[in-house]
Amino acid sequence: MASITFKGRDVISVRDLSKDDLLYVLGIAKRLEQKHQPNLLRGRIMASMFFEPSTRTRLSFTAAMKRLGGDTIGFAKGDVTSTKKGETLWDTVKMIQEYSDVIVIRHSMEGAARLSAEAAAIPVINAGDGTNQHPTQTLIDLYTIQKDKGSLNGISIGFLGDLKYGRTVHSLAMALAHFKAKMYFIAPPALKMPDYYLDELEQQKVMLHETDDILKVVKHLDVLYVTRIQQERFPDPIEYEKYKNVYKVGPELLKYSKKDISIMHPLPRVGEIDPALDAFPNAAYFRQAANGIPVRQAVLSLVLGAVK
Ligand code: CP
Repeated sequence: MASITFKGRDVISVRDLSKDDLLYVLGIAKRLEQKHQPNLLRGRIMASMFFEPSTRTRLSFTAAMKRLGGDTIGFAKGDVTSTKKGETLWDTVKMIQEYSDVIVIRHSMEGAARLSAEAAAIPVINAGDGTNQHPTQTLIDLYTIQKDKGSLNGISIGFLGDLKYGRTVHSLAMALAHFKAKMYFIAPPALKMPDYYLDELEQQKVMLHETDDILKVVKHLDVLYVTRIQQERFPDPIEYEKYKNVYKVGPELLKYSKKDISIMHPLPRVGEIDPALDAFPNAAYFRQAANGIPVRQAVLSLVLGAVK
């Protein structure tokens, strides 16, 4: 593996990360999960700028920083900041870089994280920008698959739900293309995976298949990645009402799947996974959320140059 340097780097899109980069971060996450390092980030400050709601991402970044001895500042919604008075994102970032060592940003606007990275001299981590990308969620998803399946190579994965607006699906599909994954995109035609992502995957010679019927493909899957229908992204609320209950995954699906299928979901779920599934070992989504700590510890430690 070529020498990899993360110190000072931004983490904006999965497209910026090579296969070696991805495996490197996962390796550091494993190391940090196995050996607690309470002083690794002592004296460092993370600024979390969340202009959109979040539970897992914001709190796991905060917990990751604190468990490594670092500190955090920030806000959980934009309307308590001076952006409310008309200050630009560019100027906001210019200020916050003076108060911190790393910035984590979530924003509804595609490209907001990239813009912030251009404004800031310190590392910027994209915690989700609109329908575009959520790269640290992808690293968590890869880490979870690697732990559950032993390897990322050649897995068969089904993406189910809102593939049009779901940024976690867009990021994860891009990443798994490095590992020769077979991909099944399962969605109603109106919520299908955007063509520009499918074209990009085809150029990388990914074997892909599209359907709206989970029962037609579930028997092939090692992993089923379920997503919620993203109400906040729909321009028309009537369209959302049409699709909000289109899929519900429960224990009965396991009758048709491989015995050890992992059912993942970035969460929050809003009805598309029956809680009756939670008791089955196939339900990977809470393990996945827990993996947010070591993976985000790895990303923070790497961009801050605290680990190599
Ligand atoms: N998975 C995820 O991004 O969850 P939150 O929106 O709660 O951060």
